[in-house]
Order: sequence, then structure tokens, then C-alpha cells
Amino acid sequence: MPFDVVPRSQGFGALVQTDDSASLLEERTRERLNDALSRFGVLIFPGLMADDALHVALAGIFGEVQTFGAKRIFRSANFDEDGALFRPDSDKARLLRLNWLWHSDGVYRERGIRAVLLRAETIETGCGDTEFADLAAAFDALPQDLRSRIETLSVEYSFEHMILGADVPSVSADERSRLPRARHALVQTLADGRRSLRLSPPYMERVIGWGCDESQALFHQLADVATRPDFLFRHRWAAGDLIAWDNRWTMHRVLPYDDRGLRRDMRGAVALA
Ligand code: OGA
Ligand code: MN
Repeated sequence: MPFDVVPRSQGFGALVQTDDSASLLEERTRERLNDALSRFGVLIFPGLMADDALHVALAGIFGEVQTFGAKRIFRSANFDEDGALFRPDSDKARLLRLNWLWHSDGVYRERGIRAVLLRAETIETGCGDTEFADLAAAFDALPQDLRSRIETLSVEYSFEHMILGADVPSVSADERSRLPRARHALVQTLADGRRSLRLSPPYMERVIGWGCDESQALFHQLADVATRPDFLFRHRWAAGDLIAWDNRWTMHRVLPYDDRGLRRDMRGAVALA
């Protein structure tokens, strides 16, 4: 076997261990990795030391790779390319800190994201673990009456809602009206028949047909369940680690860290649903 998939004891998240990274891309192993992501939700490749080419090729196993202008790898770091740390009160620092809130990525777009692959390029000791939540287990843990009540609901997910709730630079009403928004079912059925919550609280504006307060109360109630310790695990990064998460039934956040002193530079690729 060119690589091993070792589930964590709770059945959410697995380690992928290999000493031959090229073997991950072989035709016959693609399906195994794809199935492993659908089944375990988060795959951790410790010390993979991927370069951009391997990183993009791995993303391609899970779906069509998103482009950012001419690039397919994005950089998410708390310092500029020239090495200067962001000033703590700068827009860039405040925007990056939004990743400290529980969320899943890109839910405010029509076309969803199947997987995000993130690798730690530079990560100083003690900086920014990433925590993941299992949104399928959270759905199963809801009382039956709540499950039936939410099964048919649709939600408006919007980038504007996140901006309005966050301490980020002011954006004019005109600019805000052009930000992406989309409606999706709150509960989705996965290919294997399990159901999960489409939960990404900062972007959740309202339930269609419901008022604001009532909608937000429901979102809080669901987030409280989804972030119970049983449904979480936390990864402490080492440089060279790569993590792929199934963005359809997990959410994530960066644990707060000293972003004025410690350098954290992550690179990512996105596989569209
Ligand atoms: C992201 C994100 C988590 C991290 O890039 O969307 O949430 O650990 N990143 O940097
Ligand atoms: Mn994210």
C-alpha cells in the first residue's frame, strides 16, 4: 500500500501517512483518497512538504480546482511578502482574524466548495491551531422535533452579513450590494445518505420566510450543538503539514494566537463541488 489512512478514534478525521508523496497521485489511489475525504471529513497529511504543484494536483483529486486570477494557490498569512507583520489594527490583520470565527468556506456562492487543502508554509511555535467540527454528527445529535422543523428550511447566506457583523473596514452600501449571496437548503443529504447542517454562522443572514431574531436564535442553537467537544478536534500544525477538509459537512476556525508576534503563513487550494 503506497499510503495508509489511519482514522482518529472518534471516526471524524484521519491521518494519511506516506513516505512516497507521488504515490498519492496514482490513478488507482485517487478514488481511495476521495472516499476517505467523504468518510472522515478531514485528512491530515503530516509533514507532507508539498510544493505548489503537488498541492494543486492533490486538490484536483477532489474536484475542479478554483483559480484566483492566474493562480490556483492562495496565500493566507499575517505578514507581507517582504516579511513585515501586519499592523494589529490594520484592515488586513482584522480581515485575517475573521478566520478565528467558526465558519465553512464560500457558502455565500451558488456553487459550493467540496474541499479546501491548506498547508503550513511557515508556522511559529504556539501559533494558530486549526479546529474542525463535524456537522453531520451535529445534525444526528439534534432532538427529533428540531430535525423535522429545520429539514425543509432554506437560508440566505451572504458576504454582506459577515461584513456588517464584523469589525472590518467600512464598505459602502453600493459595494455591499454587489457582494455575493446565495440561498441553500439548511440541511443537506450527502452522497452516502447521511445528513448534515450547512452551518457557517458569520454568513447566515436569515431563514427564508423568518424574521431576523428568530433566524439568528436558531443559528445560535445549532452552532452550540455543533461545537460540543465531542464533535471537534484540533490540529497543532508543524511546517509542511497539509490538511484537506470536506467543506460540505465540516466547519473550522483558527484558534486565537499572538498574531502581532508570531508568523503564520498558510497556502491553500480549493476544489469546487
Ligand atoms: C481559510 C481558513 C484556516 C487556517 O483559509 O479559509 O479558515 O488554519 N484557514 O488558516
Ligand atoms: Mn476558512
